[in-house]
Amino acid sequence: MKNRAIGVFDSGIGGLSVVQALRTELPHEHFIYVADSGHAPYGERDVAHVLARSRAITRYLVSQDVKAVVVACNTATAAAIHRLRLEHPVLPLIGVEPALKSALALSKTGRIGVMATRGTLTSAKFRALLESQAERASFVMQACDGLADAIERSAETGDPTETIALCARYISGMGQFGIQNDQIDTLVLGCTHYPFASVQLRALLGPEVQIIDNGEAIARQTRRLVQSTATDEGSTASTAAGTVSLFTTGQPQTLQAAAGRWLGLSAAVKKLSI
Ligand code: DGL
Repeated sequence: MKNRAIGVFDSGIGGLSVVQALRTELPHEHFIYVADSGHAPYGERDVAHVLARSRAITRYLVSQDVKAVVVACNTATAAAIHRLRLEHPVLPLIGVEPALKSALALSKTGRIGVMATRGTLTSAKFRALLESQAERASFVMQACDGLADAIERSAETGDPTETIALCARYISGMGQFGIQNDQIDTLVLGCTHYPFASVQLRALLGPEVQIIDNGEAIARQTRRLVQSTATDEGSTASTAAGTVSLFTTGQPQTLQAAAGRWLGLSAAVKKLSI
């Protein structure tokens, strides 16, 4: 029986951090990944742009007969998931949002840092999430203009200098990190690009601060949804290794380099015009 693929998209290479978690959770599933690098960054563009791009990519993935779509981008989830669900009522759609609740469970000092794009932090969806948790801890938000772009460039060049400089600037802007009272002891990576800077962030923060993202939670949620909606897929019974097909609206070499460097994938990236 045919095992239909799961579609995954992001503004660029960031969603590969979610693909990594998805492949661990669902090793027999096939994935179609779309990096919208030709129209990035999303986090510093207006909502109408992010919404239009998310709709176009989701339509493309549906035309490829995917059985579910993972919006592997916090900014696109905030701007578009509601509309995408209205437009595709039968399609399982999984979004990603900053892991505030997981951070609350981990933090001992009650001070939690959140790094995300400007688009995510100013969205109504994030504000509602924040308000629902605000009484339980003190959150320090940092919009990280330029960081996703710097990570895209470092994927291709292998040079993290620009990423390190931006991480240092944003971390120092948030206040004192550490495990003493009043220090920020937990940092939420609220953009799917940022896990690819976690080595640089760890070097800046030291060993005690907890750095978290939502990749694994999204992967678990995807497994639950895909398995609960599986009918004739045969996917749960499949024992063959899943594949990842890579597409980009930008420069293929950027996604190619990132997929090779971070996920060990060597499949050729195809250029997409949508
Ligand atoms: N990876 C995206 C996110 O999770 C945003 C990167 C961008 O600004 O394009 O929000």
